[in-house]
Amino acid sequence: MIQIAPSVLSADFTHLADDLKAAEEAGADRIHIDVIDGHFAPNITMGPFIVEAINSVTSLPLEVHLMIEHPDRYIDDFIKAGSDILIVHQENVPHLHRVVQYIKEQGNQAGVALNPGTPAHTLDDIMDDLDLALVMSVNPGFSGQKFISSTLDKMRQLRQTIENRRLACDLEVDGGVNPDNAQEIVQAGGNILVAATAIFKHPNGIGGGIRSLRQCAENPTMLV
Ligand code: DX5
Ligand code: ZN
Repeated sequence: MIQIAPSVLSADFTHLADDLKAAEEAGADRIHIDVIDGHFAPNITMGPFIVEAINSVTSLPLEVHLMIEHPDRYIDDFIKAGSDILIVHQENVPHLHRVVQYIKEQGNQAGVALNPGTPAHTLDDIMDDLDLALVMSVNPGFSGQKFISSTLDKMRQLRQTIENRRLACDLEVDGGVNPDNAQEIVQAGGNILVAATAIFKHPNGIGGGIRSLRQCAENPTMLV
């Protein structure tokens, strides 16, 4: 079963509650929240109080994608704000095992993300502990970037590890995901698709974006 995770980075923040309602009604499975600090990745986005606001207007699970320096310092704040799934990056967490255990002990699911230039094998020793592995298919920072197709191979490698070890770990893909590439992402092993532009900027509205993405991900013969 494919899950769709709208990324609020491209939502209309003057009508955020309406956008979230539309996403929920159109069958979104979870809400993806990009936290960027201008250090780990360019752009400055949102913090715990936005997560709290989102949590107050949707019943969907919230996944918080931390693209910040020292993410370990903010885990408690995001969980208190309503996070359900916390995703840190492999590249800037030296004590990944400790951080992943801590997130789970606090009652969240734990995910680890890989930038496009980071190989799949860097997750080998932590995969068994993860609820989610996230393949970044753009360099983190902004929505609206072009999908980097060389990351498909990384998805295949991680899916293989998940199958070989029989893990209950989701494989999420984030960046440049749209109806045109949804099918190849799913074929490469992705089972959760994050999308900002393809959902919140869809010409037929948020519902149209979610339905189009899901149809293309689940049905190869569907037209965009
Ligand atoms: C990028 C973020 C993504 C981004 C995706 O740093 O992690 O979640 O919002 O945006 P689109 O779907 O437009 O590429
Ligand atoms: Zn993201």
